[in-house]
Amino acid sequence: MASGHTVLFSAEMISETVRDLAAAIDRDLRGSRLVVITVLKGAVIFSCDLVRAMEAETEMAFLSASSYSGGFTPGEAIRLQEDIELDVAGRDVLIVDDIIDTGRTLTELAALVRFQQPRSISTVALVNKTSRRAVDAEPTYSGLAIGEELIYGYGLDWDERYRDLPFIALANA
Ligand code: IMP
Ligand code: MG
Repeated sequence: MASGHTVLFSAEMISETVRDLAAAIDRDLRGSRLVVITVLKGAVIFSCDLVRAMEAETEMAFLSASSYSGGFTPGEAIRLQEDIELDVAGRDVLIVDDIIDTGRTLTELAALVRFQQPRSISTVALVNKTSRRAVDAEPTYSGLAIGEELIYGYGLDWDERYRDLPFIALANA
């Protein structure tokens, strides 16, 4: 299955990371019924594995975010699409994204959610592009650290392809 792809993180490494993240989130938030907000589309696969690895009871919600420029070059502006059903007043919220790059997406989504006055907001990103931050924002939890590499697989797309791969691979490798 991996033929033609340069695997950066294997399915086993990913599932270990998901287990560790779930355990860390449980330690902090186990007592509450969490609202897990998954950022479409990239975080869907990660989020489904994460909620099943967590002990905490969760409700699932979805928001969509994309940069106007599209592709791999995050633009200045981010288009957010709100879930009209979303009501998180007084709740503990966990925003789940596949990867934090410039940090704009998680920052803007957290600001949007904060309007509803939740009890707490935490954020988790499976992959952390640590050297690319453009805003002063770090996720509460993050798993796999990388540099400036472009990656795909396990939810992350390369021009809408390869989200279904069970591993993460290097683009342009
Ligand atoms: P940020 O707003 O710059 O932090 O961008 C985060 C979003 O950019 C993620 O949710 C991804 O959708 C996308 N992204 C950033 N780097 C990559 C990558 O290497 N592969 C696929 N998508 C990426
Ligand atoms: Mg995304």
